[in-house]
Amino acid sequence: MGYYENSLCSLERIRRQKTIRILAIETSCDETAAAIVENGRHILSDAVYSQTDLHAVYGGVVPEIASRAHVDAVDRMVDTALAEASLTLQDIDIIAVTYGPGLVGALLTGVSCAKGLAYALDKPLIPVNHIEGHICANYLTHSDLKPPFVCLVVSGGHSHIVQVIDYGQYHVLGRTADDAAGEAFDKAARVLGLPYPGGPLLDLLAEEGSPDALPLPKPRVEGPYDFSFSGLKTAFINALRKIEHEGRTPAKADMAASFRYAVVSSLTGKALLAAVQTHAPALAIAGGVACNRLLRCMLTEACQRHNMPLYMPAPALCADNAAMIGSAAYYRIFNYPADLTLNAAPDLTI
Ligand code: KG4
Ligand code: ZN
Repeated sequence: MGYYENSLCSLERIRRQKTIRILAIETSCDETAAAIVENGRHILSDAVYSQTDLHAVYGGVVPEIASRAHVDAVDRMVDTALAEASLTLQDIDIIAVTYGPGLVGALLTGVSCAKGLAYALDKPLIPVNHIEGHICANYLTHSDLKPPFVCLVVSGGHSHIVQVIDYGQYHVLGRTADDAAGEAFDKAARVLGLPYPGGPLLDLLAEEGSPDALPLPKPRVEGPYDFSFSGLKTAFINALRKIEHEGRTPAKADMAASFRYAVVSSLTGKALLAAVQTHAPALAIAGGVACNRLLRCMLTEACQRHNMPLYMPAPALCADNAAMIGSAAYYRIFNYPADLTLNAAPDLTI
C-alpha cells in the first residue's frame, strides 16, 4: 500500500481512539508555531517563535524574510512542542498544518515540513484553514462552547463575521470591504510614529486618551454585517496632517483613543447585530485584534445588556499559534486526509 492508502486506513482506526493527539504546524505569516493538542480541546504544548523583531525595522512583514525565518525555526518549534509535552513523534496520531490563507512562501515552509513528517512517519495529514483555526481557538479556552454560534474574526489580514453552523461548517455573514481591522490599527499606529506591529501599542496609548477628542466619520457599507475601515483611516491621517500643518502638536493619546473607539464601536455593533438577528445562542471573537482591551470591554457590556453569552479566547490564543490549528484539525478527522500533493493556498477563503 502507498502512503495515501495507509493514511486512509490509519485515520479509520484513529477515529475510534479515545485519545487523539495532533501535532499542528502554523507558518502563514510571521509566527513559526508548533503545538500538540489532545482531542481538539486540551493543549499539551504550544511553541511560538515570533519574527516581529526581524520585520520591525522594515515597518511590516517582508515575505522573503518571513519564509527564510520559518525555514530556520520550524524544526526547532516541532522539537520544542514535543519536548514540552514530553512526547516523541511516535506518540502523535495526526499531523496538521495551515495551508492558507497567508503568504505563499511562508505557508509552503509549514506545508513542506508537515508533508515530510507525515510521509516519514506514515501518519495522516490534515490541512487547516487559518481563519477556521482562529475560530477554534475558542474551543481551547472554553470547554463548554459548541456550535452553533456567531464569531467575529478580526486579525491583521481578515475581518469577518462568521456563522458557525456546526464543526467545520461555516457561513460568512459579513466581511470588510477594504482593510482588515488589524491592518487599520497598524496603519494608524504607524502614522502616530509607533513601531510595527502598532495595533497593541495604539491600544495601550489609547488608554490614556479621550475617545471624543477627534470626530471621525461613521463607515458606510452595503451589507448590514460588512465593515469598512479605509475611509476612517484616511480621515485619521488627514486630521493628523492638518494638525501638523497648522504647527500644532497632536495629542497622540487622544487621537489613538478616538481611532480605537471608531473601529471598535463598528466591530461591536455589527457583531452583536449579527448574533441577535440570526438568533445565535452565543457570540465569540477571534484573531489578533480580539486582544484589544476596548473591544473585549465593549463587547462584554453589550452582550450583558442583550443577554448574549460571549466567548473570548485567552489573549495568547488570539494571536497566531499552532494550538488553534490542532483544534480545528480534530474537527476535520471525518473528512478525507490530504495526500502528498497538498500545496499552499494563499487566497483560501472560509
Ligand atoms: O491574528 P494575528 O496574530 O495575525 C493575522 O492572522 O493577521 O493578528 C495580528 C493583528 C495585527 O494587525 C496586530 O496589530 C493586531 O492583530 N493586534 C491588535 C492588538 N493586538 C494585536 N490590534 C488592536 N489592539 C490590540 N490589542
Ligand atoms: Zn492569524
